[in-house]
Amino acid sequence: MSNLHPQEVTGDSPLMERVYKELRLTAWREQPRMVEALSYWRDEIDSTARHWVIVDAGIAIASARLSFHNSLEDLPDAEIFVGFCPTLPTPIASINRLVVHPDYRRRGYGTRLDNIRLKAAEEWGCQCAIASSTEPKRIKQLADRGFKVVGTGREHPHPMYAKRGRQKILVCLLPRD
Ligand SMILES: CC(C)(COP(=O)(O)OP(=O)(O)OC[C@H]1O[C@@H](n2cnc3c(N)ncnc32)[C@H](O)[C@@H]1OP(=O)(O)O)[C@@H](O)C(=O)NCCC(=O)NCCS
Repeated sequence: MSNLHPQEVTGDSPLMERVYKELRLTAWREQPRMVEALSYWRDEIDSTARHWVIVDAGIAIASARLSFHNSLEDLPDAEIFVGFCPTLPTPIASINRLVVHPDYRRRGYGTRLDNIRLKAAEEWGCQCAIASSTEPKRIKQLADRGFKVVGTGREHPHPMYAKRGRQKILVCLLPRD
């Protein structure tokens, strides 16, 4: 486990600007179809979501986002969930946009950012957390935190995501014991 600590920042902070311009793209570069069309990765939820960033020597090397929702329709990338996910207790915490720079992986940063977001969701009073992934290792990482696969999402309408296939939908009931 590394000694760099996550800090919470706003979606409009200079650190997040670096995340939108650099880290989110760099972290996905080994899956070039995901980012080939992007030079800046930000959406409307980034302005209101909570964000944590880990910084080394002034550079953002990991980041993750948490947002709160009262319906499936309100979730980021809602189109993949609606009709493909059971009704969930609200409020729902969405954990997404987790990225760790390739040079900093396998040091526990991703897991630490998952733990921080789940704790924040519990403190907010969320009744569950939702996540999605196509990647078996990521699904296992989430299962280790208490998530269960509840379905397979609809094909994402955005070609950038659709090329990766249909995502597994994972839900963790909160608070955890
Ligand atoms: C997924 C990701 C955030 C993990 O970050 P990390 O800091 O390396 O995670 P940790 O050090 O806490 O845990 C390491 C574990 O991550 C798991 N993992 C999850 N997704 C993985 C992936 N796509 N590739 C490799 N390992 C992954 C593995 O089980 C690994 O354990 P192992 O080294 O024993 O195999 C990082 O690989 C990444 O940024 N990937 C690209 C973006 C992405 O897939 N984000 C998640 C979207 S749902």
